[in-house]
Order: sequence, then C-alpha cells, then structure tokens
Amino acid sequence: SKRYNVTILPGDGIGPEIMRVARSALEAAGARADVAFAFEEGLVGGSAIDAHGTPLPEETLEMCKASDAVLLAAIGGYKWDNLPSAERPEQGLLGLRAGLGVFANLRPANVLPQLIEASTLRRDVVEGTDIMVVRELTGGIYFGKPKGFGVNDAGERIGFNTMVYSEPEVDRIAKVAFEIARKRKGRLCSVEKANVLEVSQLWKERVIETHKQFSDVELSHMYVDNAAMQLIRNPTQFDTIVTGNIFGDILSDAASMLTGSIGMLPSAAIGLEGPGLYEPVHGSAPDIAGQDKANPLAQVLSAAMMMRYQFGEEGIASALEKAVNDVLDDGYRTGDIMQEGKTLVGCVKMGELLLAKL
Ligand code: NAD
Ligand code: IPM
Ligand code: MN
Repeated sequence: SKRYNVTILPGDGIGPEIMRVARSALEAAGARADVAFAFEEGLVGGSAIDAHGTPLPEETLEMCKASDAVLLAAIGGYKWDNLPSAERPEQGLLGLRAGLGVFANLRPANVLPQLIEASTLRRDVVEGTDIMVVRELTGGIYFGKPKGFGVNDAGERIGFNTMVYSEPEVDRIAKVAFEIARKRKGRLCSVEKANVLEVSQLWKERVIETHKQFSDVELSHMYVDNAAMQLIRNPTQFDTIVTGNIFGDILSDAASMLTGSIGMLPSAAIGLEGPGLYEPVHGSAPDIAGQDKANPLAQVLSAAMMMRYQFGEEGIASALEKAVNDVLDDGYRTGDIMQEGKTLVGCVKMGELLLAKL
C-alpha cells in the first residue's frame, strides 16, 4: 500500500472547519484505494502570528518542503487586519508560495449542471462553462520591488508597488499554460494590459515567442478589462486563460460566480518539482467563521486536485469529485449555493454526507 506525507495548514476563519471535512474525505477515499496518508499539521497566517509572532514560522516552511504535498485552507481575519503589511497573515501565504516555488496556479471554473441556477447569471450564459485560469503566482506586483511608503516631490505621502516580470518568468508560466491548453480544447487566451503597461508588452512578446513550440494550440490575446467583461458576457468562449498574478487573482474570483459560489472553486499551485500547494480560491470568510455555515466543497475539490496533479491518483481524485457531485444530486446545499427546493445543510453535515458517498 502507498503512503503520502501531506502537510495540512488549516489556517484561520473557516479554515479548520473545511479542512476537517477534506481530511476525512481524503482518508475515506484513500482507504478504498489502499492509499494511506501521514498528515502533519502546521501553523500559517493569523494562527501562526498568535502562536509564534510570525505568519510563516520557519518550521512550517520546512515541514512543507519536506512533505509530498501541502493542503492549505485559508488565512486572514479581522483580528489581524490592522497590522503593517509585512506582519499580516497574507504574508504567510505569499511566503509559502514563494518558498515552495509554486509559480503556476491552476484555477478551474466549471459549471456543474446541478448548480446552474445557483449562479447569479442566466442559465443560457453559464451552461457549459469550463475554464482553466492559469495564474502566475510568485511574481508580478505582489513581489515586485521597489515597494513601500514614501513621500513624493510635492511632499505628499505615497504608497507604491512595482509590477515586474522577467522573460524567464513569463516563459515558464506560458509553457505550463500551453501544455494545459493542449490537453484541454487547445485554445489559450493570454490576458494582459499591453495597451498601457510595458510589463504586459514583454509578457505578450514572450507568450508569442513560446507559442512557436506549441503551434497546435490556438493563441489569442485580450486586455484584462475586456476579459473581465467577456467572462460575464459569454464565458463559454474561453478554454484556458494565462495571466499575471493580480489579474489572475481578480479574474478567478469573477469566474467563481459563473459556478454559483466561490465556495466551489479549488486550486492547485505547482512548480517544476517538489510539493505543490493545494488551496481553495476563497479566503477565510471571517463573516461566517465558527457558525458551521462554510461550504467545504472547494477544499475537498482542492484535495482532489492534489491527488491528480501531485500523485497521479486519478482514481482517488475522481472519487472525491464524484462524491461532491452525488451530494449535490441528492439536493444538499450549504447557504452560499442554496436554491429553492433544496435542503440546507451546514459544513459538518455536508462532510458527513460526503463520507457516506465515499
Ligand atoms: P473571502 O473569500 O474570505 O469571502 C468573501 C465572501 O465569500 C464572504 O461573504 C464569505 O462568507 C464568502 N465565502 C468565501 N468562502 C466561502 C465558503 N467556503 N463557503 C461559504 N461562503 C464563503 O474573501 P474576503 O472576505 O475578501 O477575505 C477574508 C480574509 O481572507 C482576508 O483576510 C483575506 O486576505 C483572506 N483571503 C485569504 C485567501 C487564502 O488564504 N487563499 C484568499 C482570499 C482571501
Ligand atoms: C487568493 C488570495 C490571496 C492572493 C491573498 C490572501 C494574499 O486573494 O489566494 O486568491 O491575493 O493571492
Ligand atoms: Mn483572491
């Protein structure tokens, strides 16, 4: 029997609630496939600040690096919202992504037939949506220097960040995106703001250059403002999207509403080798934390992505996805995806229903 070492990082807010569900779902699905997990739990984000005074303790990063994969829930919350940016929970997450070198963030948004009516958009608009957003995750404006606070020539206080990409950074994310598009419907849309930003002009040039190795993939280009509009207007025009860090952050949240709720969206962050970081697209949802209202399905689907992308365990990945599908078929819904005629359940109950399917 196989055994995988997985670091789990429950984080803050609804994190521990949804992680509990994902962990037991993994154990159940693994047991049926003769796969065992050695889980080790680490602290990151606000909980790490409270325990160790830093959002990413050295021991957490080391634990993650030494494991086969990392499953993260979410970090952040009101309690830490007024800390200086370098000390905030979010820095723990950014440090983790950088420390693990997971530069490619795969954020799929596909509309499940059961949830079409849960979307705020019309059925005929969202039906058939199946998009993969490939977001660059360890560069761009999140990491660019110089950054900070200062004073301008007029003596006014300023805050500033730098959006920067190097050619190798663009080349490697473009390559990942072309490879993914090739295995999907063969269409890649590169999203940038090359009509204004030099960083985007370089991005576009390198994507066009990388395309030469992937001439079987159809490449198109779109400005990010138009892309935000097109995602809502006609999402089925997209197959695979590749974009920079902040544009990908925003577009993936927008894409989540095509699927009914951000509580449904998983993601996988991978590098060239080593453990990947698997986490939902949503945050710690402090507004509903501790109330048993969270939707754990994005977390469970993130665990499924871990099984597929890290371990090649397609059987376990599809078993988890099928369990999600089955509980939705049975009419069970958490508040965020609730519709008339369905049965409202909490996070714990949703977990029990999933386990019964596994
Ligand atoms: P959020 O995604 O946490 O919440 C936005 C809204 O969606 C809230 O109303 C929330 O209740 C709802 N929601 C999110 N996930 C849900 C789920 N699984 N089930 C049901 N409803 C859900 O975004 P926010 O409120 O802007 O941020 C809250 C905190 O989370 C901030 O500190 C932010 O920095 C952090 N954050 C962390 C991550 C991460 O860890 N990957 C991602 C995004 C935001
Ligand atoms: C996400 C989050 C993070 C990001 C924050 C919490 C640092 O919004 O994972 O989408 O901006 O990448
Ligand atoms: Mn985000």
